[in-house]
Amino acid sequence: MKSNKNKIIIIVAAAAIGYFLFFMPSKPTSIQKADIKIPKLSLTAKKGKLAFNKNCASCHGENAAGTDNGPPLVHNIYNPGHHADMAFYRAAKMGTKQHHWTFGDMPSQNQVSKNDVTRIIKYIRELQEANGIVFKEHRM
Ligand code: HEC
Repeated sequence: MKSNKNKIIIIVAAAAIGYFLFFMPSKPTSIQKADIKIPKLSLTAKKGKLAFNKNCASCHGENAAGTDNGPPLVHNIYNPGHHADMAFYRAAKMGTKQHHWTFGDMPSQNQVSKNDVTRIIKYIRELQEANGIVFKEHRM
């Protein structure tokens, strides 16, 4: 009698854990990383890539594919209709509060010159375009 009850408890607990693991929301970064297509970059974008790797890739990842510290920028959320170039200048200068994800706040990257941010934007836009992320009007 008692052992049967224990069995039921174990089965219910296992089912609950399984359900939780299966439906737990997962960050999209690891899936995206493998899928990102790398285009042939323009000269400006190549310079942007260097500045990006130095200042942004620790969080936004190689090829802007995301890491455990920050979101992928090659992502539909960051299409130019939703995050125009202004959002990049602002984020680099002042950082940004956590609002789309659960990685925490982005600290200011004030060490990056405006010209370098311009090159970084060119790099991100070329990556985005190669991955089918294009201007979509923002409705929300
Ligand atoms: C220490 C980690 C970190 C570094 C370094 C970092 N970022 Fe971020 N960034 C984040 C996080 C986290 C977010 C997401 C905030 C959210 O929406 O929840 C973010 C968001 C952004 C956004 C979206 C801003 C918005 O308006 O939603 C842009 C653009 C951006 N980063 C660009 C950059 C660029 C360009 C660099 C390098 C110059 C950079 N980031 C360096 C962590 C970082």
